[in-house]
This record gives sequence, C-alpha cells and structure tokens, in this order.
Amino acid sequence: MKGIILAGGSGTRLRPLTRVTSKQLLPVYNKPMIFYPLETLIQAGIKDILIIVAPDHAGDFLKLLGSGKEFGCRFTFEIQDNPEGLAQAFLIGRNFIGGDQATLILGDNLFEDDFSSAIQGFESGGRIFAKQVPDPNRFGVVEFDDQRRVLSIIEKPQQPKSNYAVTGMYIYDNSVVDKAASLQPSERGELEVTDINNLYLKEGKLDVAFVEGEWFDTGTFESLFAATQFARRQALAAQPDGG
Ligand code: TTP
Repeated sequence: MKGIILAGGSGTRLRPLTRVTSKQLLPVYNKPMIFYPLETLIQAGIKDILIIVAPDHAGDFLKLLGSGKEFGCRFTFEIQDNPEGLAQAFLIGRNFIGGDQATLILGDNLFEDDFSSAIQGFESGGRIFAKQVPDPNRFGVVEFDDQRRVLSIIEKPQQPKSNYAVTGMYIYDNSVVDKAASLQPSERGELEVTDINNLYLKEGKLDVAFVEGEWFDTGTFESLFAATQFARRQALAAQPDGG
C-alpha cells in the first residue's frame, strides 16, 4: 500500500494567511498542518509516501519533511502545476503507485481515528470514509441503505440525501490509476474524486466506512480554529501529567 498526501491547492479561503505560505504549512497548535495527515498514514503502517505540492512553496515542504528518514519513511515529492482536482493525484502519482494500491489523504484533513485496520484489511475496490456533519452541502455526500451499501455520492448537493460527508481519506486498488485517466474535467474544471468513487460504485466495488473520532477539514478560519483547539487538547492530554 502506497500513501499519497495531496497538499497543493490555493487556500483562497484562508487569505491573507496563505498569501506568503501554503495552507498545509500553517500551524495547527504545535505542528504544521501536514504533520497530521502524515502521522495518520504512518500510524496505519504506510511508509512509502508521495507528497504532492503546489509549485510556490515546494522548497519549504522539502525543507520541513526531508527524505522521510526522520519519520522512518521514504518520501517522494511531486508538483501539481495547477489545482486541477483531487483525482489528478493519481495521474501525477502513476509511476509512484506502480502496481500497488493507494491511500489518498488530503493535506488539510485532521483525523482522530486510527485507520490501521481499515487500511491493512483492505482488499480491492474503493473505500471511502464518511462522517455525519451539520452542513453536508459543503462536501461530497454519501447516501447508503440500512446495510451500509452505497446508493449515491453527490458533490456539494443543494439538497443532500444524507448528512454524511465524504472525508478526505480514500483507499483504492490499482485500477484507480486507469479510472483517473478516463475522467473528464467537471464544470468547475477539476478532475473530481467523486467521479472516481462513482466509477467504483457503478462496478459495485465501493464501500463506506465511518469515521468515529473527530474529523476536521481545516480549510476555513472556523475549522482551522476548531482543529487547533482539538490538537491542543490532544497534546496536553498526552503529556505525562495529563496537562
Ligand atoms: P480545497 O480546500 O477544496 O481547496 P484549496 O486548498 O485550494 O482551498 P480554497 O478552496 O480555500 O481555495 O482542497 C482540499 C485539499 O486538497 C487541500 O489540502 C488542497 C488539496 N488540493 C490539491 O492539492 N490540488 C487540487 O487540485 C485541489 C482542488 C485541492
């Protein structure tokens, strides 16, 4: 299993914070944002990790993360010239993925869960991770039946069919590379990960797992602030005297 952290994008919603640096380098309490998804992959046993960044601050990511040796991993870096969608990660990562399976995590997503069993127990197809949210129309929304079979996934629907958001963590078998290559850009000009999920769904090969702990998509001031408070609570609780 290979890991990919997608840490490009423009971070327009966090301006002016993102005017001179990348969103994923901003602090979330005591660590740069990208450390959180990185630690999620490492905790799940993934050691071979591709980090995809935008051109502007690529050198800063390299300086921060290095070869991966310090983390007991091997890091590869690639540049996404333009933010042309999450699914482009699998085209940029084609050589890196080779014949393996791949877990994609977004560089601005912070998860409390340990995904070890979901990743190590993964066999084939696609697996997404859903979480109940109060504002599902901001996300991809997954609808499923009482046996947790996925019925539909719709990107930012005006009338969501459930309040389960698709979070920024995805596990795919090797066919994801060909699926990504078959996509056309959406109306907003992006290769959509939702379209990849729908291809798996059509084949009857998409399953949904649930995020049990906290999840933050730290792309807005409010969510960045909430994530910072959560990271602080976790860091203090981990101290020997419990903070
Ligand atoms: P978004 O938060 O949807 O986009 P953004 O980071 O450009 O922010 P904004 O909407 O405020 O301008 O992206 C989610 C994550 O995916 C984030 O970590 C950036 C990353 N991303 C890429 O790396 N490349 C892309 O083409 C896109 C769309 C997102």
